[in-house]
Amino acid sequence: MSNMNKPSSRQDKGDTPVLESDPFDHSQYDFDSLRQMSIAEHLIKGKLFINGEWRDAASGGTYPVLNPADSKAFFRVADAAQDDADEAINAAHQAFLKWSKVPAKVRAEKLRIWFELIIENQHSLAVIMTLESGKPLNESKSEVTYGASFVEWFAEEAKRINGDLMTSVGADRKVMVSKQAVGVCTAITPWNFPLAMITRKCAPALAAGCSVVVKPAEDTPMTALALAALAEQAGFPAGVFNVISASSGISVGKVLTTHPLVKKVSFTGSTEVGKLLIKQSADTVKRVSMELGGNAPFIVFDDAKLNKAVEGAIASKYRNSGQTCICANRFIVQAGIYDKFVEALAVKSRQLMIGNGMAPGTQQGPLINETAVTKVKQIVDDAVASGARVLTGGKVVAGNFFQPTVLVDVDESMDIVNQEIFGPVCPVIKFETEEEAIALANATPYGLAAYVYTKKHKRIWRVSDALDYGMIGINEGIISTEIAPFGGMKESGIGREGGEYGLDEYLELKYLCMGGLD
Ligand code: SIN
Repeated sequence: MSNMNKPSSRQDKGDTPVLESDPFDHSQYDFDSLRQMSIAEHLIKGKLFINGEWRDAASGGTYPVLNPADSKAFFRVADAAQDDADEAINAAHQAFLKWSKVPAKVRAEKLRIWFELIIENQHSLAVIMTLESGKPLNESKSEVTYGASFVEWFAEEAKRINGDLMTSVGADRKVMVSKQAVGVCTAITPWNFPLAMITRKCAPALAAGCSVVVKPAEDTPMTALALAALAEQAGFPAGVFNVISASSGISVGKVLTTHPLVKKVSFTGSTEVGKLLIKQSADTVKRVSMELGGNAPFIVFDDAKLNKAVEGAIASKYRNSGQTCICANRFIVQAGIYDKFVEALAVKSRQLMIGNGMAPGTQQGPLINETAVTKVKQIVDDAVASGARVLTGGKVVAGNFFQPTVLVDVDESMDIVNQEIFGPVCPVIKFETEEEAIALANATPYGLAAYVYTKKHKRIWRVSDALDYGMIGINEGIISTEIAPFGGMKESGIGREGGEYGLDEYLELKYLCMGGLD
């Protein structure tokens, strides 16, 4: 494996560096070979976790989990259908009746143990995640700590769910507000963060006293099932935390959003699917949290520190090969710094090492599947056909791997700046004035994350106030943290996850008026 970090001769020709060989023969994967990759045996799960038991799907069906690095199946998991979802919800309902009454300190303790187990099993979880999502192992390890941080944070917050005693309007009465767990929650989670999006939803739910049924993305069920194994080990009572893997998001999703016992639906994924889930949840008036698509502008003003702006751009754009909702989606760069910025961005993009996520040195893994690659290729080809110029990249390397790409001479009429790319592509638009930058940035139905690079503090406030986005990175490309409210405006979503606000999503306010005190 000594040559794994050595870029192939492609780099000498100025092309994207690609790791030369693949360290694993994926056709060999099964339970034993996963174990040999030092994944803890008790975390390799292929069954549904319902009511504290590991079960086959009622139909007995299973489906293959593919490795995006070679598109080959390496394991099979149970394929839940509507009756399994129904069973999980009923179990969660029974569990809720007791869990919601468990003292907050005890709920906090269970969450704390879960957090410690996740950290202890960082390596195993990261390997599973890389195998099923393709992301480089280092990124998977970071995701484990990032995901665990939500569990730690909400373990602490569980003990601080306090009500209020209001200043009374009359001597005869006391006015109070108490907070109660919402009820059974369902969490429909994406493949791009197979662990952290589960903990960001479930840790506050469990802290509040809710029970949960998780339906992980069909591409990445194994990380979710491994998390369930750790939740079982942490001692959550049966039915409090359930995971059902399913190859069809549509039919199971229907039950999770329409079942009368479900009181809250939390989803992370595309705006298109989010709208459907909101509609499905409407008939029973469920609470919803929707973390949907983005079209993040990354604005660089002339006065920005060039190296910091480029560093932030690379970090924001290429995290998970451009497959995050908050990835910079379009670069809006002022004329005076434009040439230097695009040149430096292209140089750094070209240097990123592409390879199997399991290979040491890989910085860019594969996209999730062939459909994703086809979509990114088509968006880039369309932009080029409309007049954009490729400064670097622009092509499929092989299989699901796409070159880090920088496109210039881009304008706002092009599709590439109006839809979520979800791939390693940087389209760059030039602007002249601050007003123009703000108008360009806001000209989208999305409003998740935006980034602004400038040294002028008055401009920081002016521009941040004017941007219609739920999250703004100011001279910073990586903004995700458990302590802040993550979420978007406009068609990017409803609700916030993380921080003290993340807990409110799982709590009902109850107003109590006690009279007759005169
Ligand atoms: C997402 O892409 O949906 C989540 C990204 C993050 O939490 O940083």
